[in-house]
Amino acid sequence: MTASDKNEKKTRGKNGILHKLTHGFTASIFEGCDCQSNYEQSRGVSIRIENLNKSFNGNPVLKDINLEINPGETFSIIGPSGTGKSVLLKHIVRLEKPDSGHIYIDGHDIYDLSEEREREYRYSMVFQSSALFNSLTVGENVGLWLREKRVCIESRIRRIIREKLRLVGLEGKENMMTSELSGGMKKRVAIARSLAMNPDLILYDEPTAELDPVTSDELARVIMDLKSQLDLTTIIVSHDLNFALYLSDRVAMMNPNGVVEIGTPEQIKHSQNPVIRNFIYTTTKGIKGDD
Ligand SMILES: Nc1ncnc2c1ncn2[C@@H]1O[C@H](COP(=O)(O)OP(=O)(O)O)[C@@H](O)[C@H]1O
Ligand SMILES: [Mg+2]
Repeated sequence: MTASDKNEKKTRGKNGILHKLTHGFTASIFEGCDCQSNYEQSRGVSIRIENLNKSFNGNPVLKDINLEINPGETFSIIGPSGTGKSVLLKHIVRLEKPDSGHIYIDGHDIYDLSEEREREYRYSMVFQSSALFNSLTVGENVGLWLREKRVCIESRIRRIIREKLRLVGLEGKENMMTSELSGGMKKRVAIARSLAMNPDLILYDEPTAELDPVTSDELARVIMDLKSQLDLTTIIVSHDLNFALYLSDRVAMMNPNGVVEIGTPEQIKHSQNPVIRNFIYTTTKGIKGDD
C-alpha cells in the first residue's frame, strides 16, 4: 500500500476522519450495537458558573454571574425580559463566548477545548417557538436527529420515538401531523425530540411563553415527570414566576444588575428582598405572592 493509499484509508475508512465527521462518533464504540445514540445512559451534570461577564457593543448584559447547579437539579432562572437570561443559556451551550469568567460542567471548563474528554456532555435546547417542521409527522419530528445523524438502525429509531413520546404523554401519536397539534402538544413533541439523544442537560427558553395557564400547568407536570424518570439536569429560563416556583428545586432571580437571589421556591416566595417582592407583585398582581 502506498503512502497516499494509507492516507486515503485514514480519511475515508471506517475509523477515518470523514467517517467520524459524518457520523459524529467513533465507530469502535458502537460495534455490535444497533444504536449509537443510546449506547450510554445520560448523567445529570453539575454546572458551575464563575464570574461570567459579557457585553454587546459596550453594553454589559451579564455582570459577574455566579451560579452552581447540582447534578439532576431542576433549576430556573427568572427575571424581567432583557436581563440576559437567554444570553446566559447560550453561554452554557457554547453558542456565546464570555468576555471573562468560566463555566465548568462536571468540573471541566467548557471553553477550554485543549482538554481531551472521555465524553462530551450531551445537551439539548427546547426553544420558545418549539421549532417543529409542519410538513412532518410527530414521529418524523422526534426521529429527525437520529435519522439525520444515522445513529441507529430504523427499527431502533422507531422504538426510541415511541419511548420518547410516551415520556411526554403522547403515546401513539407518531402519525399525527404537527400542524394538527395544539400549542401544548407541540411543546411536548419538541421535548420528545430533545430527548432523542439522551441528553445530560436539557435547557428550556421561555417554555410557557405561548401557552395558556392550564396548558402551562400540564407542561410543568411533564417536566416534573421527566425528572423522576430520567437522570438529567434541567435549566429553565422564564419570566413565568408561578411556573418556575411550581416545578423547580431552586430558582435564581436575575435583574439588570445580575443574580439577585438564589433559593428554593419557598425561600424565594418568602424573600424580603425588595427586588423579588416587586417582581412577585408585578407578575402576580399580588394574588399568589401574598402568602
Ligand atoms: N447577539 C447579540 N448582540 C447584541 N445584543 C444582544 C445579543 N444577544 C442579546 N443581546 C442583548 O442582550 C440583552 C439581554 O438579552 P436576552 O438574554 O435575550 O434577555 P432575556 O432573555 O432576559 O429577555 C438584550 O438587551 C439584548 O438586546
Ligand atoms: Mg429570553
